[in-house]
Amino acid sequence: MQLADIRNLLQSPDDYAYFQTGGFSPKPQPVIDEVVRWMQFQARGPALMEVFEPVSKMLEDVRAEAAASINATPDEIMLNENTTIGINVVATGFDWQPGDIVILSDHEHPGNRIPWYNLVQQRGIQLRFLSMTNDEAELLGELDTFLAENPRLIAISHVSRRSGLRLPAKAIVQRAHEHGVPVLLDGAQAFGAVPVDVRDLDCDFYTFSGHKYIMGPQATGGFYVRKDRLVALVPSWVGSHSQKEMDMHGKLTLLDSARRFEFGTRNLADQAGFGYALRMWREIGWANVFDWLEAYTDQIKQALLTIPGLVLETPLAYAQSSGTVVFHIPGLAASDISRILLEEDRVLVSTLEFNPQSIRISTHVFNNEADCDRLINGIRRIAERQKEVL
Ligand SMILES: Cc1ncc(COP(=O)(O)O)c(C=O)c1O
Repeated sequence: MQLADIRNLLQSPDDYAYFQTGGFSPKPQPVIDEVVRWMQFQARGPALMEVFEPVSKMLEDVRAEAAASINATPDEIMLNENTTIGINVVATGFDWQPGDIVILSDHEHPGNRIPWYNLVQQRGIQLRFLSMTNDEAELLGELDTFLAENPRLIAISHVSRRSGLRLPAKAIVQRAHEHGVPVLLDGAQAFGAVPVDVRDLDCDFYTFSGHKYIMGPQATGGFYVRKDRLVALVPSWVGSHSQKEMDMHGKLTLLDSARRFEFGTRNLADQAGFGYALRMWREIGWANVFDWLEAYTDQIKQALLTIPGLVLETPLAYAQSSGTVVFHIPGLAASDISRILLEEDRVLVSTLEFNPQSIRISTHVFNNEADCDRLINGIRRIAERQKEVL
């Protein structure tokens, strides 16, 4: 499979210029077919050995594929439904004491806020919010100030959903570890859009979605826990399949791997689709995807900069950014821009809660020149109308 094939595998890709992959991606037909194939196979009788065994093997193949995609080992991977689950595994896995400090950033998604806000209410922890500035030295300087307070954890995005900023994650982890502070990276906007190598990042935990840049089925994803961190994380939810050993009288030994967090009956056909999507990208070559995203977002940024009055919020340098481009036009509400783009141009972009002016464009390899023209022409027209009003 090649990059250029992806667009042709989508249902009616010309209907909309789809710039919403950072929310959810459209799904290639073979990913859907894989889900249906496994669902039909399982429906013959999930408990039949001739069904159960291939399904179990498939799940372990997906785990191996997910692990390889971030340079982890399979026993460090929990397969699950979304990024937020991994955040909750960490949030509920520590023995929190009143006054414990957790460092977040001011760009976090509700999924990386609410589990912590809940702990503020339930356990009396305290939060600090790192200001996500594009100025790396400033960002690391503020981090040093917070680290001096002896926090228990940093839980922060790898790529900001709010500005597309790619954080200096390796430097953050290094500084945190110098203070003995573990780091959870929220990879929802990074996984599939920028290289992720958990060994190189040296993070303790990494959580990611399959339904965004991987173009996997809705409600797929995973959570990485570094092997030596597993024992420190107390599982709050466990069940059948979490155990290595158990007896009828209360004896329990949990699995030595991140699989201990998976339990009960689950939708494994979706996981098969996730695995298919991961294999697809491996075949295409991750480097080809990242190079394409760099070239396309560079083109979009340069085109946006020609629109008078428009303010680009994403860093220009690609090493500091990703497939996401965020901008605003002073005086214009994001909700109006997105509505007009949808109604007049059939262009789908995102607005961001708590940021009434900013528009997020998430690009992916299925976007083409015509999408880019529709987007840029639409925004230019809206900006020009605004100038006439003023
Ligand atoms: C940075 C970030 N974290 C977490 C989430 C939540 O992802 P999920 O729905 O997979 O839990 C999102 C979703 O957009 C996100 O952008």
